[in-house]
Amino acid sequence: MTAGRWIAAGVLAGVGATAGAAAPDYAEVAPILQARCVLCHSGDAAPLGLRLDSLDGIRAGSRNGPVARADDPAGSALMRRIRGESVPRMPMTGPPWLTDEETSRIERWIAAGMPAVGPVAAAATTPPSRPGPGEPVTYAHVAPIFATRCAKCHTDNGLMGPPPEGYRLTSYESTLSAADRVRVLPGMPDASELLRRVRGLSRPRMPFDGPPWLADDEITLIARWIADGARDAEGTPAALPVGARVRFEGRLTARWAVDRQALAVDGSTRIDKRPRVGDRVEVRARVGADGSLVATRLRRR
Ligand code: HEC
Ligand code: HEC
Repeated sequence: MTAGRWIAAGVLAGVGATAGAAAPDYAEVAPILQARCVLCHSGDAAPLGLRLDSLDGIRAGSRNGPVARADDPAGSALMRRIRGESVPRMPMTGPPWLTDEETSRIERWIAAGMPAVGPVAAAATTPPSRPGPGEPVTYAHVAPIFATRCAKCHTDNGLMGPPPEGYRLTSYESTLSAADRVRVLPGMPDASELLRRVRGLSRPRMPFDGPPWLADDEITLIARWIADGARDAEGTPAALPVGARVRFEGRLTARWAVDRQALAVDGSTRIDKRPRVGDRVEVRARVGADGSLVATRLRRR
């Protein structure tokens, strides 16, 4: 049968079907770069001017010169970053890093002189960035925003060293982690520090290196994602992390609400510095079983 060229479909599915004697061509490495690198390495803001979204871009290299050399594949900037011999290691959102098979596939492609190929379906691997009508927002829709605008700091060994506040925006699990406190509360956008930061309700506003801030439609998409239950990439909503700690700051808009988010305040809530409506306050709370926010401390800033 016509096994040859059409095996590209297997490559897209992550199967190393073409590994072997023949050198890989661009269609076999493009899906890896597409999935792991082009979120950052494309467009005018590509780091160091390095665009990895086209063969021309890879051949053009970065501001520092070529990043892939057939006469020295292993010594090329591209391979050294993928292997972590140059830091920060790539993809900057890792771990996970590229697998050994992906790494060797790219290296063999560079060694072969970066051969191009016919129009095999690399474009088909671009993940949809917006949900269709009636479709819930999932992590697959918001992940590209976090990858391009947030993960360069909110990762290990990012631009600021360790992740700020220990918060990693590199995977679904880390984005929702309730390990020390939660920044994304499924179904509760107004209580989610992540959304509050990108809206500028909590300060400093994110991204920290902005402006530019996120576009209105990106902020709306993140708000919908959280309101829809902060679903994973497959569409399964997250469970409410009952008992998890929450911390945020904002304006006291009523007794007791902070920027629209109602708070359960009782005799056990510690209230410091007599906050009044209109003041900026810091809230510490726990997530109640019924989805309420039980304030443990309220302090005027
Ligand atoms: C989250 C954003 C992000 C992702 C994803 C990412 N990079 Fe980078 N990349 C950067 C940043 C930022 C720099 C500049 C770091 C520095 O100052 O050294 C960089 C630098 C590089 C460099 C150095 C270029 C030079 O001139 O030295 C190479 C090569 C590179 N990346 C390759 C990759 C590859 C290959 C992938 C995918 C496997 C990838 N990157 C994924 C953000 C990213
Ligand atoms: C240039 C680096 C940088 C970028 C880019 C960045 N952040 Fe931050 N982020 C920080 C720093 C620094 C802090 C701690 C600031 C503070 O509260 O004093 C922080 C804090 C946060 C916090 C609060 C964590 C907590 O629990 O207190 C959230 C949430 C957050 N960032 C989300 C984001 C999001 C979402 C993006 C992308 C839209 C983003 N950040 C982009 C540097 C960055």
